[in-house]
Amino acid sequence: MKRILHMAASALLGALPLSGVALQCLAEDTFSSEQTALMAGSCANCHGTDGRLVGSVPTIAGRPAAVLEARLLAFKRDEVGDATIMDRIAKGFTDAELAALASHFSAIDPQADDATDTEQEPQE
Ligand code: HEC
Repeated sequence: MKRILHMAASALLGALPLSGVALQCLAEDTFSSEQTALMAGSCANCHGTDGRLVGSVPTIAGRPAAVLEARLLAFKRDEVGDATIMDRIAKGFTDAELAALASHFSAIDPQADDATDTEQEPQE
């Protein structure tokens, strides 16, 4: 019985949403670098650390902010016919948040090999 309770408790804990960060409190149109970094963290799952992953998911680091913003807004407005996932992701952000994310990733050097890049092996 004790064991079953323990298992139930772990199952409950496992079900807690990891991304339950309250972004709705960001009512203003400008964001601190900490706020933007928090939002950008959810992109790393697919686009790699700092958006530098090269592979089937497009690299977003170092691309012009205007291009990234236009793509994100197009995803949000269902204007990208072959989108698989970004349409749903983009809908979760305000236009101002998407602009902040675009300028965040455009400012990252896609080639940089700094100390924060340890989580991921370079793909050659
Ligand atoms: C679940 C995986 C996943 C997550 C999380 C994710 N993306 Fe994407 N992203 C993709 C895929 C796959 C594509 C290719 C378009 C598609 O199939 O929807 C893409 C495309 C893009 C593009 C267009 C790039 C191009 O060259 O057209 C941008 C910009 C982008 N993502 C930004 C972001 C940002 C910013 C976040 C975080 C808010 C994010 N993505 C989170 C998987 C993801």
